[in-house]
Amino acid sequence: MKIGFIGAGPVAQTIARHTLSVGHHVVLSNSRGPESLAALVAELGAGAAAGTAKEAAEQDLVVLATKWWNVQAALFSVGNWKGKILVDTTNRVASIEPLALGDITGRTSSEIVADLAPGARVVKAFNTVPMSWISDFSRSKPKTAFFLSGDDADAKKVVSDLIEEIGFYSLDLGSLAIGGRLQQTGGPLVGVDLTFNKRFVLPTID
Ligand SMILES: NC(=O)c1ccc[n+]([C@@H]2O[C@H](COP(=O)([O-])OP(=O)(O)OC[C@H]3O[C@@H](n4cnc5c(N)ncnc54)[C@H](OP(=O)(O)O)[C@@H]3O)[C@@H](O)[C@H]2O)c1
Repeated sequence: MKIGFIGAGPVAQTIARHTLSVGHHVVLSNSRGPESLAALVAELGAGAAAGTAKEAAEQDLVVLATKWWNVQAALFSVGNWKGKILVDTTNRVASIEPLALGDITGRTSSEIVADLAPGARVVKAFNTVPMSWISDFSRSKPKTAFFLSGDDADAKKVVSDLIEEIGFYSLDLGSLAIGGRLQQTGGPLVGVDLTFNKRFVLPTID
């Protein structure tokens, strides 16, 4: 697949590295233009390119990885979202100091993302764990479980397959309204580490 990233910070870079390692191509974008990403794409190596947000959104699958307060501008800069699979990795943090959550008046943050990208098939994923937990890009990395939520079954299948392909487990929580609430910031599943990396040896009973 060709995977576009709106954002080029730790989330975009980490997911890009995992997907590159299994042979996908990536297009990264930021707010400062493709030239500012030259060193990063050179470091990421074969299969990585820089583009505008619009170009990132033309890829087979699009990952939204901006700060919450940049989400609206980023999504509006693309324009046409009809039919696109949009993976929402964002957390609704409105301010870091003091820490404050965005006012989303009862709707889940990914429902807001879906409202701002009309026609997109939004899948919430990758938002519940710090990227430092999944920065082992080797084949022998621990298997972490990622939650995902969405209203389009086909889009969820594409994202779920990708999560499994890059070496993790995927756990479908249901719709953006229900699953999205469980996995968004402020919900019970944020920061939950479901990493299966231990070998349990059962004692033998004579
Ligand atoms: N860091 C984590 O461990 C982690 C884990 C899970 C979820 N999250 C969530 O994931 C999101 C991304 O986190 P991050 O740590 O990667 O953020 P970050 O370091 O702030 O990176 C955000 C990226 O978005 C770009 N951007 C801003 N406005 C844009 C626009 N209009 N169009 C295109 N790109 C734009 C920025 O580009 P410029 O620098 O050029 O402005 C930057 O590359 C956040 O919502 C965060 O809460 C973070």
